Amino acid sequence: MNDPVKEPAAAPGGRPILSLRGISKNFGAVAALTDVDLDVSPGEVVAVVGDNGAGKSTLVKVLAGVHRPDAGTLTFADREVTVASPADAHALGIATVFQDLALCENLNVIQNLFLGRELRRARLDEVTMEIRSWELLRQLSAKIPTVRVPVASLSGGQRQTVAIARTLLGDPRVIVLDEPTAALGVAQTAEVLNLIERLRERGLGVIMISHNMEDVRAVADRVVVLRLGRNNGVFAAEAPSEEIVAAMIGASDNVVSRRAGRARSVKGEA
Ligand SMILES: Nc1ncnc2c1ncn2[C@@H]1O[C@H](COP(=O)(O)OP(=O)(O)O)[C@@H](O)[C@H]1O
Ligand SMILES: [Mg+2]
Repeated sequence: MNDPVKEPAAAPGGRPILSLRGISKNFGAVAALTDVDLDVSPGEVVAVVGDNGAGKSTLVKVLAGVHRPDAGTLTFADREVTVASPADAHALGIATVFQDLALCENLNVIQNLFLGRELRRARLDEVTMEIRSWELLRQLSAKIPTVRVPVASLSGGQRQTVAIARTLLGDPRVIVLDEPTAALGVAQTAEVLNLIERLRERGLGVIMISHNMEDVRAVADRVVVLRLGRNNGVFAAEAPSEEIVAAMIGASDNVVSRRAGRARSVKGEA
């Protein structure tokens, strides 16, 4: 096979914790994903980018156990696995923060963090939950002024932080973030990007879906491009944005091979 797109699929950061190979998913006549490969290693941030309809959300849902792929394999911690339900994903240690965050606006930060897994002794152990909440937010260097306010009064960045912190209570090894900076202002975006760096420092494998090339380049170790449901290039974060965008929109179908050619000639000169 002389397809240059697939060559750099292996993560440089060490052994992948999660590997997808040949994942396909059809909805009737629509091929949402075709033969998709993806790797993420512990302590690595992989950005998945692509135009609308590229299959990003479908990929997230395959990882979350919402959709079963029609073909392909998932390997987690060197074991081939099936993720047939969200409970399977959770049990393996794959956590997903969906774009809508699924927080309860009227509940406070502690209640949201522990929703569905409240610590109980004789009664709800509010003191322990509050202490755990602060610990968790401190580990993430999160700027949340108080954990006793309803989530409705927090900024978009703070809500994203709460949603991510909540998944960490399940002790995941891979975290999938769907458009974590969409609709955030500059300062809040910076906060969320910091948070993603904390996740990487903790040794999690992070898969970040994004449209925003600046955010991607600020935080990702590698950038995986999907186009029309297929892999269309893997880039280092330092690659010029125009080249990544060209791969996303297919402006130049040989952008990847051109880039590979240039990388070779640069190396040759050095
Ligand atoms: N549940 C579904 N039923 C039918 N078609 C779907 C469904 N989900 C996604 N698709 C189709 O699959 C393709 C990929 O969609 P999606 O994964 O949402 O892309 P993205 O998130 O990159 O915009 C699109 O053509 C979309 O219309
Ligand atoms: Mg989508």
